[in-house]
Amino acid sequence: MPEETGKNRLIDIDTGRPVWERFFTVAPLVLIGTTDPDGAPDFAPKHMVTPMGWQNYFGFVCAPTHSTCSNVQRTGEFTVSYPKPGQVLYSSLAASPRQDGHKPVLDYFTTFPGQQVHAPLIEEAYLYFECRHFKTVDGFGPNCLITGEIIAAYAEPEFLRSNEFDDQEIVHDSPLLAYLAPGRFATIDRSNAFPFPANMKK
Ligand SMILES: Cc1cc2nc3c(=O)[nH]c(=O)nc-3n(C[C@H](O)[C@H](O)[C@H](O)COP(=O)(O)O)c2cc1C
Repeated sequence: MPEETGKNRLIDIDTGRPVWERFFTVAPLVLIGTTDPDGAPDFAPKHMVTPMGWQNYFGFVCAPTHSTCSNVQRTGEFTVSYPKPGQVLYSSLAASPRQDGHKPVLDYFTTFPGQQVHAPLIEEAYLYFECRHFKTVDGFGPNCLITGEIIAAYAEPEFLRSNEFDDQEIVHDSPLLAYLAPGRFATIDRSNAFPFPANMKK
């Protein structure tokens, strides 16, 4: 029997419903920190996050029904904490349902306030951004895209690239958390240099 090749091998995915449950994709996982109307800290895990270009803009997908969205709209500020692999459970629990308007689990989070924005960050993450709200784009079905300008950034020293250590060594010694949507995660401690084409322009 001839071997199946090209499009013949592929299985159509029904686009009449969301496609994202049918396969795995690699994503970051962050905690977005905002302040509730009563001043309480709010954190929500997000994996649909991305740099918005090569400059200091950051974006994440949210929903107008989420407190994170109304908090950003009201305060004009949010933070981003990048958790380490050991904080995966902690990160997930931030998505616990609210009771009487609050997420009780957040009382167990050790947090610290932003330096430039009035929004919290979580202790022990490896990378932090403080953002000023830039633009929200509504209308992706029930979702919206919230973007901000990064006005402060800091990181644990071992996670920062330096001339002293090879990039491969940095990733090995300070592993990164990846979210494999939907519903799995991985610890990345091995990596390879990317084979860029010669004279590539950004
Ligand atoms: C691993 C994980 C990833 C998530 N990623 C997103 C995301 O990218 N965008 C989103 O809107 N919600 C995402 N959620 C759901 C929200 O974090 C969740 O609805 C949260 O409770 C909203 O909190 P808030 O009402 O305080 O904003 C994710 C949840 C988990 C557990």
